Amino acid sequence: VIDIRSLYAKTGLFTYDPGFTSTAACDSAITYIDGDKGELLYRGYPIEQLADKSNFLEVCYLLLYGELPDQAQMADFDQRVTRHTMVHEQMHYFYRGFRRDAHPMAVLTGVVGAMAAFYHDSTDINDPQQREIASIRMIAKLPTLAAMAYKYSVGQPFVYPRNDLDYASNFLHMCFAVPAEEYKVDPEIARAMDLIFTLHADHEQNASTSTVRLSGSSDANPFACIAAGVACLWGPAHGGANEAALNMLRQIGTVDRIPEYIRRAKDKNDPFRLMGFGHRVYKNYDPRAKVMQATAARVLDILGVENNPTLQVAKELERIALEDEYFVERKLYPNVDFYSGVILDAIGFPTSMFTVLFAVARTVGWISQWKEMIADPQKKIGRPRQLYNGATARDYTPIAQR
Ligand code: ACO
Repeated sequence: VIDIRSLYAKTGLFTYDPGFTSTAACDSAITYIDGDKGELLYRGYPIEQLADKSNFLEVCYLLLYGELPDQAQMADFDQRVTRHTMVHEQMHYFYRGFRRDAHPMAVLTGVVGAMAAFYHDSTDINDPQQREIASIRMIAKLPTLAAMAYKYSVGQPFVYPRNDLDYASNFLHMCFAVPAEEYKVDPEIARAMDLIFTLHADHEQNASTSTVRLSGSSDANPFACIAAGVACLWGPAHGGANEAALNMLRQIGTVDRIPEYIRRAKDKNDPFRLMGFGHRVYKNYDPRAKVMQATAARVLDILGVENNPTLQVAKELERIALEDEYFVERKLYPNVDFYSGVILDAIGFPTSMFTVLFAVARTVGWISQWKEMIADPQKKIGRPRQLYNGATARDYTPIAQR
């Protein structure tokens, strides 16, 4: 690692690194990835252990505060989050301003940004207490806002949060309960939802997290920063990949059509890529994809759709790609999004909600990273340089003479 911060001041030199492939923009003690080994740790704990033994709310505590909570700390945190799950009633009007066929990610970007207008008593970034309340508010309210975006898109009444349910069950309840029928959350499905949240909770300096940090570096309020993260996450090269991956698997449709799509993915004249494949950092199997694959099989089994054609296509596509020289040479493996869509589809979410669910989960990662940055005495405004390749200085010509 070369620390080049003083290079420009001393010599006028700077580095050129489009896409930040080899530039660290910050120090962080939150998440560790070893892309060659396929290893992911939250605060030092392997993701496989957290997926197996912990739950999303405990992982939130771990990411935010750095240590696993004891029982009293966990009970207190749980209570603080649960108490903040309601959103201001006036928010309902804000939703009604959107076209009813708007993409739920477009709605979410708007409503998260609008939180700064509703909760301006927690926008002073210099006050640690306000930072803390803003963090709790976002972790607590994002599921409510996401569920409202879903309900609005399907034309059903909004469902209020329930304090007697755990985080994932409450979210499923707000999405799928309807006034006319009793809705009971299946604990196994809730566990799968919780697992998806845990696996997506943080991933160090990915595009959306870097966006949150860059926005926060100007001392913008936390809600504005998280809204910027949501907007960035929407892109199909990032969080939009789960939606794109399931659409692709459906488009392939049957196992016999896989070779045609593999051929297209390898053709440099064809813009098609295997969605849910490849990763900037993992040059080995994404550890989250392994957990996700097992969860997909379990959820489909519980729901009695074990012969799901989409899962069959996914498994066969993975098998063929992992034996293909093109993918082997470039170290392209399934990423977290390859199997998550299969699970979410089976639970009953439309593809347009997939990235919204990713945003709900990643909110804690964004906030933890934002808090870490704000508290850093070395904090500086993020201000990348550029390599200018435009015109050299020239004289203005009046319009009549051009
Ligand atoms: N299908 C086919 N070829 C691919 C794929 C893919 N999914 N991904 C990368 N490649 C090829 C590229 O064409 C390139 O080939 P070349 O060296 O012959 O030119 C090589 O692999 C390297 O690819 P880059 O685009 O340079 O790698 P980068 O690190 O910039 O991109 C990314 C990573 C964006 C994730 C890419 O793999 C991709 O587009 N994947 C599909 C989208 C996706 O699944 N995104 C989700 C990422 S995970 C997340 O956000 C949660």
